[in-house]
Amino acid sequence: MTSASSRGVFIVIDGIDGAGKSTQVQRLCDSLRQQGYQVTQSREPTDGRWGSMIRNSATTGRLSLDEELSAFVEDRREHVAELIQPALAEGHVVVVDRYFYSTVAYQGIRGADTETLLKDMRAEFPIPDLTLFFDLPVDVALQRISETRGDVPNEFEQEDSLTKIRKTFHRMASECDEVQLLDCTSSVDDVATEIAARVSKTLATAS
Ligand code: TYD
Repeated sequence: MTSASSRGVFIVIDGIDGAGKSTQVQRLCDSLRQQGYQVTQSREPTDGRWGSMIRNSATTGRLSLDEELSAFVEDRREHVAELIQPALAEGHVVVVDRYFYSTVAYQGIRGADTETLLKDMRAEFPIPDLTLFFDLPVDVALQRISETRGDVPNEFEQEDSLTKIRKTFHRMASECDEVQLLDCTSSVDDVATEIAARVSKTLATAS
């Protein structure tokens, strides 16, 4: 698929853990709603049956790579068909927290071939109008994870894994036209201002 092929605007926020994604996604959606846009806000893994299974596997036992990969893909198929495409067709601004880039980065570190995965993902799923990869040095990310959660980082949040994940995000940023890296080391307000500027530009050119 080459574009979201619809009247709406499709925005994705992705990137390594600890960069403040959830806070910024919420702020962005609130601000767009205040400006009068109809906004559909969502996330992956979703709260649907596949997404719930994935989230449960964090406590019930990790799935094998193949099972995990197919669960993320099925979750996305349902998400795109039932929420993303219909909302875009209605002209909404659709903001999604994590998308296929996470599959490439996170299932990639478990051994899946990242180039093939990226190619397959781009062939099957709508390409966003704008994707922002939240980026920051791994040591800062780790520090933020332990400060905000007050607990030990999970399996994906170990230094080695995060370094590989960040590298994969950087490579995708240089290969995918719709992707922009966003430095998240500055304050929450400064990052929010930068996101708003980049999203406004996309909304202006898309309409
Ligand atoms: P998320 O709920 O966004 O966690 P956080 O709020 O910590 O960012 O995502 C849960 C985990 O799922 C996250 O560590 C990344 C992982 N993930 C994959 O491994 N593959 C995927 O395709 C997606 C969408 C997420």
